[in-house]
Amino acid sequence: LKITHAEFYKSVYSLDQLPEEKLPEIAFAGRSNVGKSSLINCLVQRKKLVHTSSTPGKTRSINFYLINRSFYFVDLPGYGYAKVSKSIQARWRPLVEGYLKDRATLRAVVLIIDSRHPPTASDIQLKDWLQFHRINTIPVLTKIDKVRKSDRQRHREEASRLLGIPVDEIFLFSSTEKIGREELLKQIVSLTEH
Ligand code: GTP
Ligand code: MG
Repeated sequence: LKITHAEFYKSVYSLDQLPEEKLPEIAFAGRSNVGKSSLINCLVQRKKLVHTSSTPGKTRSINFYLINRSFYFVDLPGYGYAKVSKSIQARWRPLVEGYLKDRATLRAVVLIIDSRHPPTASDIQLKDWLQFHRINTIPVLTKIDKVRKSDRQRHREEASRLLGIPVDEIFLFSSTEKIGREELLKQIVSLTEH
């Protein structure tokens, strides 16, 4: 199971710029600053394929990355950060929802949540929206390196309860410590294969 090739493909600012539905796609969604871009870099083992930042709201466009020349990783702009201006938040919804809805090549959305806190109302709302549109959801609790080992399972159970997803379907992850990388990659790649 190897990522042999990863390259930036395209940034999309409006729905008419979306690439053709040609290859399987895995999208990465979550609140601003939760670690979406870092998680993609960790999966592909490239420090700077995707731009990351400690300033929330960094990713403004939908960014496509071509992986192994056979599928796309799609980095979505984050939601739910109060300091991001209203006009940007107002653009998020139609762009991201417009992309996710009726996308024939979309195989799953990796829903990334900060493991230090319970899923927020916006996380739960997105999960419900994805479920309503019958989009595969892979829930991931990231930054798990920041949670004491003895607390990790409890945080996982709490997330399971609030999201209504079985506890063993929730991935624990750390981009900095590479925790959970192989397991998540295996799940993702299997969804791009058939
Ligand atoms: P936006 O594009 O602004 O929505 O942010 P993002 O979700 O893409 O987050 P990004 O990957 O840019 O990371 C945000 C901050 O969290 C950066 O300072 C990262 O270094 C840090 N970070 C990301 N993942 C982890 C992790 O697993 N552990 C720790 N300790 N820090 C992390
Ligand atoms: Mg980002």
